[in-house]
Amino acid sequence: MNAVFPGSFDPVTSGHMDVLTRASRIFEHVTVTVMHNARKQGRHLFDLDERLGILRGATAHLGNVSVDSFGGLLVDYMAQQQKGIIIRGLRAVSDYEYELQIAHLNRQIGEVETVFIMAATRWSFVSSSMVREIASYGGDVSEMVPRASAEALRLKFDAAYAERAAGHLERR
Ligand code: PNS
Repeated sequence: MNAVFPGSFDPVTSGHMDVLTRASRIFEHVTVTVMHNARKQGRHLFDLDERLGILRGATAHLGNVSVDSFGGLLVDYMAQQQKGIIIRGLRAVSDYEYELQIAHLNRQIGEVETVFIMAATRWSFVSSSMVREIASYGGDVSEMVPRASAEALRLKFDAAYAERAAGHLERR
């Protein structure tokens, strides 16, 4: 059975990698798919090509994982050949309500099943948005993201990292 792990991945975190790695041990093949929406393009830190590049770097060691992107409804993507089931990660109860709604809707409009993998508790507090926030101030996120994401964040927030390293912290 094949699976698809969809998401925004802006950028991919260690929590995503935990869920993906465990999914890759269960399913024959897992496609990590960056779901993108042209209307939301400006709202992301990393553009689509950057997110795909980071994901390719982070998943290169996983033999049965490939990286893809799609700009439409997830169920339409899933209808393409041999896509299998949707994988989503759950960190805490707070994720459940949102994920429950999406899973039901995807089954209603596309008859697609969703399987949940509980992210390791170690990553329960990690999200792409928090990682972006910390990195934007030059904070250390190296434990929370794979190396490919950490390097991309360092390049993106070059000035903030340099300032913090030099001890020039803003005091107001
Ligand atoms: O990483 P995210 O942002 O939690 O992922 C959410 C995502 C991209 C999986 C979800 O928004 C999605 O499937 N978007 C594609 C459009 C779609 O199919 N929407 C209907 C189900 S919400």
